[in-house]
Amino acid sequence: MDDSRETLGPNAFVTGFPIRHSRSPLIHGYWLKTLGLPGSYRAHEVAPDVFPDFIASLKDGSSGFIGGNVTIPHKELAFRLADKPDDLAHELGASNTLWLEDGLLHATNTDGRGFTANLDERHPGWDRHDTAVVFGAGGASRAIIQAVRDRGFKEIHVVNRTVERARELADRFGPRVRAHPVGALAEVMHGAGLFINTTSLGMDGEAAPLIDFAPLAADAVVTDIVYVPLKTPILRQAEQQGRPIVDGLGMLLHQAVPGFEKWFGKRPVVDAALRALIVADM
Ligand code: ATR
Repeated sequence: MDDSRETLGPNAFVTGFPIRHSRSPLIHGYWLKTLGLPGSYRAHEVAPDVFPDFIASLKDGSSGFIGGNVTIPHKELAFRLADKPDDLAHELGASNTLWLEDGLLHATNTDGRGFTANLDERHPGWDRHDTAVVFGAGGASRAIIQAVRDRGFKEIHVVNRTVERARELADRFGPRVRAHPVGALAEVMHGAGLFINTTSLGMDGEAAPLIDFAPLAADAVVTDIVYVPLKTPILRQAEQQGRPIVDGLGMLLHQAVPGFEKWFGKRPVVDAALRALIVADM
């Protein structure tokens, strides 16, 4: 860490437990450097039992941070402890981005915006359909359902191994979202214009189940939020079956944009050099 720079500008953090594998310091460090801005962004591990103390130190200014990102397992508590969570954070009950403004701790959730910005960049027109299939019902799935709904999809089918978790999401989001067991996958894919894998299947090279993408609409896009490897087993299958695919790395990069702009005052750009930097670090 360059301490001279740290004392000159705003300091931001990413916190989680553990946090050492986070790629966020690389992303924000790249933007600080290429934009020539003073300030710092660093990983700051906080154990769950002292997370409320950390938030208190953020609010009273003694932490020295202006804000930061929050990841597993602190997203729900970050939302609850913030003074001013926005509507997105409220609906999800979780926050990944915090900032101090006028003495109050604000909170939002940028995962959904990261998801849509990635598709807008890589496959414009992805949102011209009415029906989407979301595979998985964990924390990441929630933000994606919200984003897809807000982009105008009228029917969102959530398919999950544990169907109760999918039902909880359907209850949370209302009639446009429907829950299904994995056995119903082929049926709900019929005519759908978007398929999103939000499960951890295929992560780090692990095997994924065989999926037949034939029932999807002819121009349907298949995307995955897993980005290690970049081309996951699910994306590889979809590509082999002639489907357009969008990998999940851009979601990670784009979700970082709003926070950077809040803390450092300039909107950063997700460019090819940043992508290459993260890929080289994998
Ligand atoms: P996250 O918050 O990152 O979304 P999560 O809450 O652990 O992570 O959710 C992981 C998702 O992957 C869940 O939908 C999970 O299904 P269950 O709810 O049934 O656990 C799904 N998942 C993980 N391993 C799976 C497997 N082997 N087969 C099918 N689904 C799996």
